Amino acid sequence: PAVPPPAPEGTKHFSFKLLKTDGRARRGEISTPHGTVQTPAFMPVGTQATVKAMFMGHVEATGAEVVLGNTYHLMLRPTAERVARLGGLHKFMNWNKTILTDSGGFQVMSLAQLRKLDEDGVRFQSHIDGQRYHLTPERSVEIQGLLGSDIQMQLDECIKLPAERAEVSRAMELSLRWAVRSREQFERMDGPAKGQALYGIVQGGDVPDLRIRSAEELGKLPFEGYSVGGLAVGEPQHVMLEMLDITLPAMPTHKPRYLMGVGTPDDLLESVRRGIDQFDCVMPTRAGRHGLAYTRFGKVNLKNARHADDPRPLDEASTCEATNHYSRAYLHHLVRAGEGLGAMLLTWNNIHYYQDLMRGMREAIEAGTFDDFYARTKEDWARGDI
Ligand code: GUN
Repeated sequence: PAVPPPAPEGTKHFSFKLLKTDGRARRGEISTPHGTVQTPAFMPVGTQATVKAMFMGHVEATGAEVVLGNTYHLMLRPTAERVARLGGLHKFMNWNKTILTDSGGFQVMSLAQLRKLDEDGVRFQSHIDGQRYHLTPERSVEIQGLLGSDIQMQLDECIKLPAERAEVSRAMELSLRWAVRSREQFERMDGPAKGQALYGIVQGGDVPDLRIRSAEELGKLPFEGYSVGGLAVGEPQHVMLEMLDITLPAMPTHKPRYLMGVGTPDDLLESVRRGIDQFDCVMPTRAGRHGLAYTRFGKVNLKNARHADDPRPLDEASTCEATNHYSRAYLHHLVRAGEGLGAMLLTWNNIHYYQDLMRGMREAIEAGTFDDFYARTKEDWARGDI
């Protein structure tokens, strides 16, 4: 039988220290059994036990201190039980720093076939081979424990926007009941004794009073941190930011706040300004595999013919090898030729840029100059790539 991997030697317990604030922006430090995470933090997405097209050593070199894994994908293949028998997800993917896992609810809704959701959980068929599964709040936390995840998420229901108030309310209330069951399972799995964390997830769509109720009710439960879910699901950016303005003041101050599945560099800047501490998004990795580079001066499409004879690197001032050692002409050629190295270099550049942006925000909050950093960063993006 599969048992969860043991806690690492001399395990530290999950904790969060709020070190400094600048306006509503927060500078903090998360401790987990696998090290510390300086916040605000961006977490590269490692859905299938790999940050696509990256060596984990290179991910670490960009400054990332935590990566995200997915319950949904890993439960289907190679299965949580197999990962546990092989010593847990950290060992399996050769990443000895912090791992956060999503609970599967969101991915079931976007990827699985023939979903049927009821009070107990969600039944679905695998998008890989059609095999039937039943994911409940208890099973999701059990899987995350088998993976050995440091920071786990409750099972929730995330709905797309626009949606009727009654539908938003139903999903939010169900998510609250699943929060309680997830917490009970986390305690049965000895998560707290292993120093792990379980976050509750705020839902409530674009309805202010439902967001506030969700945040307040979750705040009464003993979660180590709180996520804001159900955003960047079809609504315009201003609606997402309004929801943050409404939701964050209703959430506990001394716990980390994680905005799930967000976003563009501009989304990160705007959300840190409003008090978010953690982010994850496929954007930098996915864009890298599609010939797109994120830089200080905005987004650059390497497929574009204007790069074909350009000997300059993406940004010679960057400390990333992918960004300062290769000409735009070479990157253009790799992307046009469909070469794997093109995807690898652009993914590396993008993760590095996202980490540089987070580092810049952390330093600015520490120095009390977040507003200047915000203005300067927007000016650079507006200048564009020339
Ligand atoms: N990823 C992006 N949004 C969400 C959400 O609302 N819930 C979960 N579990 N994962 C997400």
